[in-house]
Amino acid sequence: MTSPTLKFRSIIPYMRGEGGFAFIARGRELASKGHHVVNLSIGQPDVPTPDNVIESAVHWLRDKKYTAYTETPGIPELRQAVADYLNERYGSDVDWREVVVTPGTKGAIFLSLATYLDPGDEIIVPEPSYPAYPEGAKILNAKARFVPLRFEGSDKGFKLDMEAIEEAITPKTKMIVVNNPHNPSGAVFTPREIDELVDIAREHKIMILADEIYDNYVYDGSFKSLISYPDWREFLVYTNGFSKTFSMTGWRLGYIVVRREVAEILSKLAVNIWGCPTSFAQKAAVTALKDPDTWKWVEKISKRYAEMRTLLYNELQGIEGVEAWKSRGAFYLFPRISSLLNKVNMNVDEFVNYIIDNYYLIILPGTAFPDTAGKDYVRFSFATSREAILEGAKRFREAVEDLLSKQS
Ligand SMILES: Cc1ncc(COP(=O)(O)O)c(C=O)c1O
Repeated sequence: MTSPTLKFRSIIPYMRGEGGFAFIARGRELASKGHHVVNLSIGQPDVPTPDNVIESAVHWLRDKKYTAYTETPGIPELRQAVADYLNERYGSDVDWREVVVTPGTKGAIFLSLATYLDPGDEIIVPEPSYPAYPEGAKILNAKARFVPLRFEGSDKGFKLDMEAIEEAITPKTKMIVVNNPHNPSGAVFTPREIDELVDIAREHKIMILADEIYDNYVYDGSFKSLISYPDWREFLVYTNGFSKTFSMTGWRLGYIVVRREVAEILSKLAVNIWGCPTSFAQKAAVTALKDPDTWKWVEKISKRYAEMRTLLYNELQGIEGVEAWKSRGAFYLFPRISSLLNKVNMNVDEFVNYIIDNYYLIILPGTAFPDTAGKDYVRFSFATSREAILEGAKRFREAVEDLLSKQS
């Protein structure tokens, strides 16, 4: 008889992990065996958290007043700092009581889904997608309806497909997810696209779950935050976090902004799940948002990544079968490689595994971003050094040439 410890919920065999985390582990394993690994898969800045933020955390730890539980939705000082950031930057009118601080933006995403989704409900997810939205829905016995982004070629890039989004709406649709700037495509949807999306939400009376975690990494074009609409309280669940902006991925801090009644409900759920976010990390996060030195640091890093984007984009030019679009935001390039895959007779997972095993270059297959739209793409991160990009692009070119030569 099967042991009760092995009798899981019926959904468990269908859960997927996150490609990004699996590939980080794979890179570490290869490096531990002495291989010179080049990792262009990582979704985090290549530099540690700024010194002023680290010093703040150490200070508040030594002070010993912030080692205990805090308020479930976060300390008022941090909630106010988040509201100030959004209001100054996007001309919004967020009240501090509308901010709920969470353990990571992933925590924010899951808490938002758990607040709204009944079993059988649907969310619309433009794909390729960061996996936490559809997987979160799945945990709740709800369902993601995927709508592919339109790739309009290497000069225009990726667009939201409004018609397909409208067609995907059913009576069970609760929300449309929009991650902007977008992981993995590097798209920054235009203000017009965002306006159109908001019109759809208003007309059909469904919510938008916004994830704007890359809002400080916009290189070209203009970015319109969903929190900037005067009537945001009618349709928006807004999420963001500290991981990417301040290189604080390991600190686990994110936040949700919702109208006040909802913030109170979110807090009721959160108190039963995690109690509160980490106390001294919250104090350091206030420093991150309020100290002008941090913003100088953010500007410097973002400028450097803009250069790394151009460098990687240039390096990928002329590689047979690789159609790169110079992304506009986040820190990824997501070239289409369908003609290359056809020529070498491989699917994208086989291709990426070949490159990892033979060239010790870690990139991510587009299939790490559900549902299936990513099957013709690979994701490169350029949140790294010039040397890593040059070496990674060189290995990639050699691998492609090697595979093509085997076909002829
Ligand atoms: C689009 C997107 N949202 C959320 C997250 C998760 O962020 P956090 O570290 O704050 O949980 C990531 C991390 O890669 C991401 O790419």
